[in-house]
Amino acid sequence: MWGLVVRRASAGRNPDLGFRSASTTAGMTCRAVVVPRFGGPEVLEVRDGVAVPDLKPREVLVRARAVSVNPLDLRVRSGYGRSIFEAALPLIIGRDVSGEVAAVGSSVSSFTVGQEAFGALHPTAVRSTYIDFAILSEDELTLKPPSLTHVEASAIPFAALTAWRALHSTARISKGQRVLVIGGGGAVGLAAIQLSVAAGCSVSTTCGSGSVERVLAAGAEKAVDYTREDVESAIEGQFDAALDTIGVPETERIGINLLKKGGNYMTLQGEAASLADRYGLAIGLPSATAILLKKQIQYRYSHGIGYWWTYMRADAEGLDEIRRLSGSGKLQIPVEKTFPLSQVREAHRVKEKRLIPGKVVLEVD
Ligand SMILES: NC(=O)c1ccc[n+]([C@@H]2O[C@H](COP(=O)([O-])OP(=O)(O)OC[C@H]3O[C@@H](n4cnc5c(N)ncnc54)[C@H](OP(=O)(O)O)[C@@H]3O)[C@@H](O)[C@H]2O)c1
Repeated sequence: MWGLVVRRASAGRNPDLGFRSASTTAGMTCRAVVVPRFGGPEVLEVRDGVAVPDLKPREVLVRARAVSVNPLDLRVRSGYGRSIFEAALPLIIGRDVSGEVAAVGSSVSSFTVGQEAFGALHPTAVRSTYIDFAILSEDELTLKPPSLTHVEASAIPFAALTAWRALHSTARISKGQRVLVIGGGGAVGLAAIQLSVAAGCSVSTTCGSGSVERVLAAGAEKAVDYTREDVESAIEGQFDAALDTIGVPETERIGINLLKKGGNYMTLQGEAASLADRYGLAIGLPSATAILLKKQIQYRYSHGIGYWWTYMRADAEGLDEIRRLSGSGKLQIPVEKTFPLSQVREAHRVKEKRLIPGKVVLEVD
């Protein structure tokens, strides 16, 4: 499930929104952004009196200070994943958070109340972050480097863990390899460039005209503006790994053609959720598995490469490295604009209409 099911508390808004030393959240309510039905930005409602669930032993309650807006938030709001979420409406959305630890579950050993932490929820977690108090498991959180503001930190984990999963868990990149990032100008693309450089790889990337400077600053050796150049002739092939953040047939073809034998092509646009939405979970998920297997076999024989649909996953080791790199300035996702949580509709509207190219963050006052 990709959201937090809203439970209405019988009491009104809890005036005590401060820190708690125990694992109890009994009786707590807070403010959250709620999706009562699927639709455009206008369906988003800021509601008070939303119950905070009890903490499980390994969970941490985070007093949110900043939550970033991810494309997944917009998609879920408009009905992506409806095969799972429809029955659970009204939902709260959101994956990334940075804030302060407000309470810890009984088995949590790596956080104490009052520490600053940031992290991200799995795409299918039944919890969310557009809320005053977010709940994450211990391994979905890490300490926030003091050099980063909450706004800066909140922009990083979901995108960086997505890139980490593809590059380190799937392609297992190593020093000296060549990585191609297709669509390097967005948050996942920028994270992928920086994580590859940190691993000792050389990176080529494609992006729009407005992103060229940004991807070069992130460490790409070569940036091809796909709006002006023919990518396949501008980039010399033989890559070990290709991460495709756009994932349309043309970028898939380019990524696969530019790999060397034994390389790995990874797209972020796997079809599992959209097929489940179209045909229901019982038919959609097996169909997705069949399509993926067919493509894996086809490309294994035709090109000798691995073909993968990759998804963000919580990863304690990855998050630790992401904390280390972001703390030393080697992993940055520039934030273009912030909005107060109360202006969440406007934040979604500008992202949806692509009026703001970079990352948008909601500040939770
Ligand atoms: N599978 C997963 O678990 C997972 C996880 C995270 C994200 N994603 C998906 O990966 C994609 C990138 O995510 P992100 O967080 O990096 O997004 P983002 O920060 O909003 O960046 C998207 C970038 O893609 C480029 N782009 C090219 N054509 C586009 C189009 N038609 N619409 C929107 N953008 C376009 C733009 O850069 P240029 O101007 O340089 O072209 C844009 O900045 C999204 O589709 C997202 O849903 C999947």
